[in-house]
Amino acid sequence: MKKCLNNKIFKIISDVADKNKLPTFVIGGYVRDCLIKRPSKDIDIVTEGSGIKLAEEVAREINPSIKVSVFKNFGTAMFKYDDLEIEFVGARKESYRKSSRKPIVENGTLEDDQKRRDFTINALAIGLNKSNYGQLVDPFDGLDDLKNKIIRTPLNPNTTFSDDPLRMFRAIRFAAQLNFNIEKETYTAIRKNKHRMDILSKERIMDEVNKILLSPKPSIGFKYLDDTGLLEEFFPELTRLKGVETKNGRKHKDNFLHTIEVVDNIRKRTDNLWLLWAGLLHDIAKPKTKRFSEDVGWTFHGHDRLGAKMIPSIFKRLKLPLNDKMKYIQKLIQLHLRPIVLSQDEVTDSAVRRLLFEAGDDIDDLMILCRADITSKNEYTLKKHLKNFMRVEQKLVEIEEKDAVRNFQPPISGEEIIKTFGIKPCKLVGDIKNAIKEAILNGEIKNNYQEAYGFMLKKGQELGLTPKDNK
Ligand code: CTP
Repeated sequence: MKKCLNNKIFKIISDVADKNKLPTFVIGGYVRDCLIKRPSKDIDIVTEGSGIKLAEEVAREINPSIKVSVFKNFGTAMFKYDDLEIEFVGARKESYRKSSRKPIVENGTLEDDQKRRDFTINALAIGLNKSNYGQLVDPFDGLDDLKNKIIRTPLNPNTTFSDDPLRMFRAIRFAAQLNFNIEKETYTAIRKNKHRMDILSKERIMDEVNKILLSPKPSIGFKYLDDTGLLEEFFPELTRLKGVETKNGRKHKDNFLHTIEVVDNIRKRTDNLWLLWAGLLHDIAKPKTKRFSEDVGWTFHGHDRLGAKMIPSIFKRLKLPLNDKMKYIQKLIQLHLRPIVLSQDEVTDSAVRRLLFEAGDDIDDLMILCRADITSKNEYTLKKHLKNFMRVEQKLVEIEEKDAVRNFQPPISGEEIIKTFGIKPCKLVGDIKNAIKEAILNGEIKNNYQEAYGFMLKKGQELGLTPKDNK
């Protein structure tokens, strides 16, 4: 285990701990991550004594001017060392009340401290005193679980989860981040204790959901969230996407499985959290818009528009930001069918220009979402869609190079229209401006000042206006 103690900070802590006769260990996420070779910048040190005193002495030893942040209420202290954050805490025993995540804390031994931790892989500790320097202390076989890729609680899982229900989400988050399986009893206990999530704030839950979305394969986490029943508790709209219905021998796809596949596809291309949310929500209105007709089979007409409309209330309930991020997601949902619809017809320049105009700077993200949305199991259909999609992609580049409508700025201002026709600000000004924009998007005129000016004169005359110079 000495390989985890390469940084010279561990030697310094060791000397100070020995001088003060404090049994001291590095514990938790740092040890786990070191053993699976995941880089980690947070180091947790636990000592059988005062964590605050140890932190202050170690900091003084390194450099007396280091600033130590002390959290007296929690009995912890931390400081930064190079690019590391080192937190010190006294080993503790905890007991919990039913109604709160806040434990009653008493001093304890390393073993007490390891017991109160969430998972065996997070309870691993390495000795830092001379007598046990580099020795692994692993009372719950966390090393085996790490090797076998298993998430398991050190104690009876019902106790661990009932003590702190956030751990149910953490179990699933670690499963997704590390591609681990949740051990059977631990999994069963999540199902059993799912209602305990009621005492969690939405913000804490969303922190974990965001980490699941950003994990290499988010579908692992969403399958667990669904199977355990947690998803139904906080996000019933997503679980309603589940299931396949067949009528007259025609069936639609399981929109939940499709959705999480889309999220996986997006994750392969980006770490933009809000684009991943757009993927998760892009079909959210499908259950509400589902219809069957003999002629065309299953349809979900308008799920793009209704989906975009559903977002504010979902975001409000989940305490997600009600700001430009939400608007961005609404826009992507609203537009998510457009590139594919485009590719099914002859790809006209004006349709592409309109799409560029409406998506603006979000066009690249929209195309990532649309590309990810092509998930057919049928090899032939998949290839056909992808080929059409690439045609649209190509066309987008060509049109943008030619017409630059992505960041459309009206080539003629309202001010200029007012001046040219010698009129007061009124509705006509907006009508002319809009007509110019439409003419550009339709390809009747080019997106430049000269052609727009000529068009403005013509349009003004149609509306009974005379340029001032001719009056
Ligand atoms: N821990 C716990 N129960 C929680 C949160 C944390 O038992 N609800 C313990 C675990 O031993 C964990 C350690 O506290 O390893 C540090 O917690 P944290 O920094 O939140 O998690 P990490 O395991 O370091 O992982 P990450 O940084 O990815 O969240």
